Amino acid sequence: MIALRLELENYRNYTRQELDFGEGVNVIYGDNAQGKTNILEAVYFFAMGKSNRARTDAELIRYGEDKARICLEFSDRSRTNVIDAEIYRDKRKKIQINEIPIKRSSELVRRFNVVYFGPEYLSLVKDGPGVRRKNLDILISQIKPGYMAALGELKKIVESKNALLRMEHPNKTMLDIMDDKLSVTAANIILHRALYISRIESFARELQFDISNGTEELEMKYKCCIGDVSGLDSEGIRSAVRAKLEEARPREMRVCESTIGPHREDIGFFINGMEARLYSSQGQQKTIVMANKLAEVELIHAETNEMPVLLLDDIMSELDRTRRDYILGRINNMQILITCTDTEGMKVPEGAYRIEVENGHARAV
Ligand SMILES: Nc1ncnc2c1ncn2[C@@H]1O[C@H](COP(=O)(O)OP(=O)(O)O)[C@@H](O)[C@H]1O
Ligand SMILES: [Mg+2]
Repeated sequence: MIALRLELENYRNYTRQELDFGEGVNVIYGDNAQGKTNILEAVYFFAMGKSNRARTDAELIRYGEDKARICLEFSDRSRTNVIDAEIYRDKRKKIQINEIPIKRSSELVRRFNVVYFGPEYLSLVKDGPGVRRKNLDILISQIKPGYMAALGELKKIVESKNALLRMEHPNKTMLDIMDDKLSVTAANIILHRALYISRIESFARELQFDISNGTEELEMKYKCCIGDVSGLDSEGIRSAVRAKLEEARPREMRVCESTIGPHREDIGFFINGMEARLYSSQGQQKTIVMANKLAEVELIHAETNEMPVLLLDDIMSELDRTRRDYILGRINNMQILITCTDTEGMKVPEGAYRIEVENGHARAV
């Protein structure tokens, strides 16, 4: 998959911008706060139908304007596509794919795939479970039809259930209905998470071993809300979740909150049998994240037969020379957009496409 051309209108600090990308490595450089990350954010938008960092679409609109327009031309194995998005302050965004309007932004997903790696992911191993879940969910959404919709459904069910639990005398029948629904949606999500964590692990394991010169064995463990899921089918998972919810009912009534389900799960990373969150050095943790991100690339390729576009936001300066060179050496036959403030410390590959960004203007140099 190759991002060919990006157009921005009243988007973030860009008034009007047209930008072509190179097919391989693109180095986007410039001082701080000039608009480098904004470009990667726009590209990410076309993969997930929303920003990776804004809480609302309106944040993407240039201050003082009521509408932004962003447009991406990209090619996949079969053709060239254009996705056009108009974002408004006061109404729903309008998205067209090859001039055909879509109703939900979830229809956008799986047309254009990316793997995003920014500084916020460097602490993936140490941070709370939310970041690890989000990272996994973004990956699976780009591979599996219906997964994103299931996550949306889960969110709605949990919100209604929490509203119910916060009432003075929650209706028990209503809670039963919520838990029935929750367990069905949970089974669907859990089945996918179990499968893809093990798929990711098999790629990441090899990468970790390689980066660490054969000294680090990586293991990933799915900390599922019902414990070990191996050998369970969808119905087995559903009934185990339902039983767990029944058991948790008195506690959930007490704390007025839903405490069991995919929205509370986690993934554990282990190096040579030791939990990395507790026992690994910062360097080892960076390697784990790197191995995971490169594993995401390989998994998307294996599952969709397309290379995703790799978005590396400001992380080269956070990695030492060996790890930097490893990433650049590893990546062939794919497009990468790298942002950085200076290109000196980085061995910019021969033939890389350079884009300079200054105060909301980007130009190829
Ligand atoms: N909605 C917006 N309207 C106008 N400017 C914005 C908007 N959102 C962010 N900016 C500006 O964009 C700049 C940050 O861009 P960013 O891409 O994060 O910078 P960097 O080059 O450091 O990656 C800041 O100057 C910020 O004020
Ligand atoms: Mg930035």
